[in-house]
Amino acid sequence: MQNQSCFDTIIGGKQNSLYTLRNAEMAVQITNYGGRIVSLIVPDRNGTPTDVVWGFESIRDYLKAEDVYAGPLVGRYGNRIAQGRFSLDNHSYQLSINNGPNHLHGGTDGFWNKMWDAQYSPENNSLTLSYFSPDGEEGYPGNVMTHVTYTLKKDNALQIDYTATTDQPTPYNPTIHPYFNLHGTTTQSINSHYLQVNASHFTPTDSVLIPTGEIIPVEGTPADFRTPHQIGERTSEDGNDMMKFGGGGYDINFVLDKTGETLSQAATLYEPSNGIAMDILTDQPGLQFYNGGCINGTDVGKRGDLHRRYSGLALETQHFPDSPNHPNFPSTILKPGETYHHTVVFRFYVTDTISQQH
Ligand code: BGC
Repeated sequence: MQNQSCFDTIIGGKQNSLYTLRNAEMAVQITNYGGRIVSLIVPDRNGTPTDVVWGFESIRDYLKAEDVYAGPLVGRYGNRIAQGRFSLDNHSYQLSINNGPNHLHGGTDGFWNKMWDAQYSPENNSLTLSYFSPDGEEGYPGNVMTHVTYTLKKDNALQIDYTATTDQPTPYNPTIHPYFNLHGTTTQSINSHYLQVNASHFTPTDSVLIPTGEIIPVEGTPADFRTPHQIGERTSEDGNDMMKFGGGGYDINFVLDKTGETLSQAATLYEPSNGIAMDILTDQPGLQFYNGGCINGTDVGKRGDLHRRYSGLALETQHFPDSPNHPNFPSTILKPGETYHHTVVFRFYVTDTISQQH
């Protein structure tokens, strides 16, 4: 658990705090600077409390970190928009560019860098964060109001619900970017984790990770996780591996096998050595899997452990990257009068084998 006093400070004139949600077995800590999940503590097979997300011990460390995506909400648009450009209703828009030639995770001053208003609800064991993004922010049209509620349920599920409204049509696709390591320490690699994903297809990309627009089968590729595979099975420690489309390993958008927008099982992550398993359920059409292949080991995290290549992975429920430029992808345009909804559930348990679950 992180110490609350290490997070109490004023940022941009607003109070920053650390909020803790608990149930009988779990604890989740969230800070309103960027809505970051700071710690997520679950019991392992022996009942030992294990913090399964990356992070830092103080807000000072978050503010100076090289990797700004350690645990936060990202948006307005999670992942990339090619060259930060899109057209909508005969207008061309230019977003901020912050990742090579592209716009990534909402831009140079995205949701991850904002102070969110916080409301803690003891009766629901939840925390609601709210942020008003003004028209033109990072180049996006429309005034957008976002509410994100984190609820810790009795069955060891952390549920995150997003809602949003706008006064002009705008691309909108937020997500959250915890780096998971089920070992509970970044000194051990995520390559030993097993992953199973309910996806028969993925969206291949070019060399700067922009989708080509194709939706192709995972069959016969290292992206085939329809049955559980160890993450390191088809990658190599130097990142020079079979996943050519991801650069440093897996950085890939899965097209989830589902119809409609109901909540359904997307993936399971499992670490055999301590028995910790996590199911991910969502109503979103895509799941981005990034195995931390480009993390360079400069950030010093909790307990002084380095954030290194393959020491944390992201599994982000969302729409497909660069959707505003691909009419064949599900639409990400939020319109006035509509309410955006997105739910993700991270459910934890211990088990002896992942295959029992599926
Ligand atoms: C993206 C990666 C990116 C990372 C930043 C992931 O969501 O897919 O390409 O490097 O976020 O932390």
